[in-house]
Amino acid sequence: MRILFIISLLIHSALGFVPADNYLVDCGSKSNNTVEGRTFSADDLRADVLSTSRTIHAEASSSYSVSSDYGSSLFLTARIFESASSYKFPIREKGRHLVRLYFFPFLFENYDLSKAEFSVSAQNITLLRNFRIQSGAAVKEYSFNVTTGQIVLTLAPKSGSFAFLNALEITSLPSEVIPAGAGSMDAPKTTYRNFQDRCLETVARVNMGNRTVPPRNDSLWRLWINDGEYLKQNKVIFESRPQAVSYKEGWPSENVAPAAVYGTATRSDSVVDPNFNANITWLFRVDPGFEYFMRFHFCDVLELDYSSMRPFQFHVFVNSRFAYIGLNVDNLTGQGAPYYFDVVASPTHRGELNVSLGPSTEGGRYPMMFLSGLEIMKLSNSKASLHVSDAAVTSSRNPQTKVGVICLVGGVLIAAIGVVLAIFLICRKRRKQTTVGQSKEEGHFHDDDNTMIISSSKIGYKFPLCVIEEATDKFRESLIIGVGGFGKVYKGVLRDGTMVAVKRGSSKSTQGLMEFRTEVEMLSQFRHRHLVSLIGYCDDMDEMIIIYEFMENGTVKNHLYGSDLPPLTWRQRLEICIGAAKGLHYLHTGPAKAIIHRDVKTANILLDENLMAKVADFGISRAGPDLNETHVSTAIRGSFGYLDPEYLTRQQLTEKSDVYSFGVVMLEIISGRPVIDQSRPSEEVILVQWAMELQKSGKLHQIVDPQITSEMKEGSLLKFVEVAGKCLAELGADRPSMGDVLWNLEAALQLEGKGKEQENPIQSSRSFLSAVSRSEISSTADFSLGSMKDLDGVSLSKVFAKMVKEEMR
Ligand SMILES: *[C@@H]1O[C@H](CO)[C@@H](O)[C@H](O)[C@H]1NC(C)=O
Ligand SMILES: *[C@@H]1O[C@H](CO)[C@@H](O)[C@H](O)[C@H]1NC(C)=O
Ligand SMILES: *[C@@H]1O[C@H](CO)[C@@H](O)[C@H](O)[C@H]1NC(C)=O
Ligand SMILES: *[C@@H]1O[C@H](CO)[C@@H](O)[C@H](O)[C@H]1NC(C)=O
Ligand SMILES: *[C@@H]1O[C@H](CO)[C@@H](O)[C@H](O)[C@H]1NC(C)=O
Ligand SMILES: *[C@@H]1O[C@H](CO)[C@@H](O)[C@H](O)[C@H]1NC(C)=O
Ligand SMILES: *[C@@H]1O[C@H](CO)[C@@H](O)[C@H](O)[C@H]1NC(C)=O
Ligand SMILES: *[C@@H]1O[C@H](CO)[C@@H](O)[C@H](O)[C@H]1NC(C)=O
Repeated sequence: MRILFIISLLIHSALGFVPADNYLVDCGSKSNNTVEGRTFSADDLRADVLSTSRTIHAEASSSYSVSSDYGSSLFLTARIFESASSYKFPIREKGRHLVRLYFFPFLFENYDLSKAEFSVSAQNITLLRNFRIQSGAAVKEYSFNVTTGQIVLTLAPKSGSFAFLNALEITSLPSEVIPAGAGSMDAPKTTYRNFQDRCLETVARVNMGNRTVPPRNDSLWRLWINDGEYLKQNKVIFESRPQAVSYKEGWPSENVAPAAVYGTATRSDSVVDPNFNANITWLFRVDPGFEYFMRFHFCDVLELDYSSMRPFQFHVFVNSRFAYIGLNVDNLTGQGAPYYFDVVASPTHRGELNVSLGPSTEGGRYPMMFLSGLEIMKLSNSKASLHVSDAAVTSSRNPQTKVGVICLVGGVLIAAIGVVLAIFLICRKRRKQTTVGQSKEEGHFHDDDNTMIISSSKIGYKFPLCVIEEATDKFRESLIIGVGGFGKVYKGVLRDGTMVAVKRGSSKSTQGLMEFRTEVEMLSQFRHRHLVSLIGYCDDMDEMIIIYEFMENGTVKNHLYGSDLPPLTWRQRLEICIGAAKGLHYLHTGPAKAIIHRDVKTANILLDENLMAKVADFGISRAGPDLNETHVSTAIRGSFGYLDPEYLTRQQLTEKSDVYSFGVVMLEIISGRPVIDQSRPSEEVILVQWAMELQKSGKLHQIVDPQITSEMKEGSLLKFVEVAGKCLAELGADRPSMGDVLWNLEAALQLEGKGKEQENPIQSSRSFLSAVSRSEISSTADFSLGSMKDLDGVSLSKVFAKMVKEEMR
């Protein structure tokens, strides 16, 4: 006994986590019960049970045998409750606690535990309702954030029945085990899902490599079951090399998952076939109507010595949507070092979570995929319940409505980790010299609070705050070039002389944080000549900073009115419209899933030194409807004066809402006045209304900015105005697509005649063709995507590498 105790101490210290709160109770037992070195105390005389009536201590007869990975002895006694009763435990350390409930129904005197029906709740969250267990042993596992000084666990029998419990564990959890939140794959827009106040129920904890890891091999006594029963693929290889696992400082520790988990993996059987192209799929059945926290564990312990195959890179999908694009664990942590990423996902209406790995052969990579472990935990819902009957109602007509998007997530996917690290080290060195004691965890790249939702392997780079401070001279007031709802925009210069615009968020609201994340994520996904490029971002020290390419000539709005800038010529205006239309057309058609900008206005169209237009500000953008849907339903966002009336009244968002706003932008550009101008006679205050009136009375030419009337040709004016009018059609369905708008604008420019720029002859003839028939245009391949010149070729890594060189000096 004593030796066992010492061994258990040794195991504990070896595993390195000593919970501040640790209640192990063998319910109904009259003596302490030591299982695998852990002592479950007899609850015979516990004063912490509050009950209004008597409780019964039940013991299973010796004829019962229990087979459970948790051992059998804990299941053989139980405490029976005939009325609602609670266990109450004082808590020393607030934070997330793990709760395990052990059940095994046996027959005791005249109590048949398999007939018991009861509910269990903790901290006012329903864990189980009308729960009944007919046979076999079960262990239910939950975790919740304890914010008060105690945990109250209540068992309430259904009337006429009774409740029972065989054993109970309540222990503190190390903070790295369950994060405060994770990126959600759900809502049509990728969001950060905070679940600090939610209870999590473990529904699957799986060790890949088809090997079960029993609780005794896990520092937190978790059971990891083998993946065999979930695997939907026969041709896989199970790897097992626990000795190859080496935990690294700053990356997942043994508390996240033991070496027995990271040391095994299920991988594709693709070594012999460089053209291998199949997914590995695991299927999990869960309760629909809830969200699930999913943690994917990886560790490259594959016994493959062909160095030319590494680094392995692959995609991770949940229900056919990207959970991680181009995951490259070898690049992130290196061979043998554990890595994980988290997402929140919703199952299909049938309750399926279909997890698959797919090859990423980009750049001629070798197709190899592997997974080491996976945890799936159900999140309690807004009704504070985990019970199916409290599930969110899913509409039977369109069960998947709210699920959408190509969003993805990950731990901070650091494409240039080495580079960033270098900068970080330099910064830290420098900072140490200047301000002692301010080095708060910046080097901790895997900090979950800083986890950015990243949608693509082409991500924006995370900049250390010191680099930005230097670029903006510590956010000098005189460098402010704009102020908006989000915060201030500064002009900055990086060490290599690159001019940048630095947007520094001020709002600490969730809204602000969400827009910040959306913007970084959106901008990371795509690069296009007519979309403002992301250079990087910074979320150190609660900052929300986004660094963009600097746009020399500011907003289009500023060039139209309210400034001393020389008026834009008609040709310049047309070209600006074409540029912005190209950017929006790309957003609507280029990315895997259409993106709706939602805030198209002249203040969000920027001009570079050559007056080339780029669309900016993706803070409230979101993915468009799925193919089989016509719209996404959403709360109204956007700018007054530009809002699509259909969207306003029906709250149904489609790409056509952007088209409407673009129509307003066109009117603003041709008229050179604000969309709402209180200084004008009442019938002219609202630009769109005024234009409608003028059109009705056939006087639309009156809308034209007097500063350009002389230079414009009748044909181009008519074309332009006609297109603008169509964009403003009341019904989205009647509006042209951005592609149509673009063709027509190009046609208008053609009608202006040859300018200084020589038009591509093929393109121009196509433009004319299309201007004739819109239906043909729509079916014509998207030329602006095909024309590579629009896809930004500037490599961020170049900018970055240059910067580092400068830093190194
Ligand atoms: C059970 O263990 C506790 C300490 O964990 C001890 O105080 C108690 O006396 C033990 N009870 C029995 C019946 O051995
Ligand atoms: C549970 O609800 C009761 C009554 O509403 C409240 O007094 C108590 O503080 C709640 N407990 C927790 C942990 O929220
Ligand atoms: C628990 O909740 C409190 C208050 O909501 C929060 O400050 C804390 O970070 C949470 N802890 C965890 C581990 O989620
Ligand atoms: C669990 O630990 C024991 C002893 O430490 C070891 O022999 C066994 O192989 C481990 N099991 C697994 C699945 O890793
Ligand atoms: C996984 O292991 C179990 C036993 O541990 C075995 O029955 C099953 O066939 C294995 N599955 C696969 C796919 O090999
Ligand atoms: C792998 O799964 C993804 C997502 O479901 C799918 O898009 C892709 O076509 C699949 N690949 C293969 C080879 O089946
Ligand atoms: C799971 O996903 C894979 C690949 O995406 C697909 O082939 C399979 O049909 C899906 N299975 C179910 C049950 O949805
Ligand atoms: C990541 O992988 C690429 C090869 O795809 C390699 O060139 C690069 O050096 C790796 N980066 C790091 C930081 O290991």
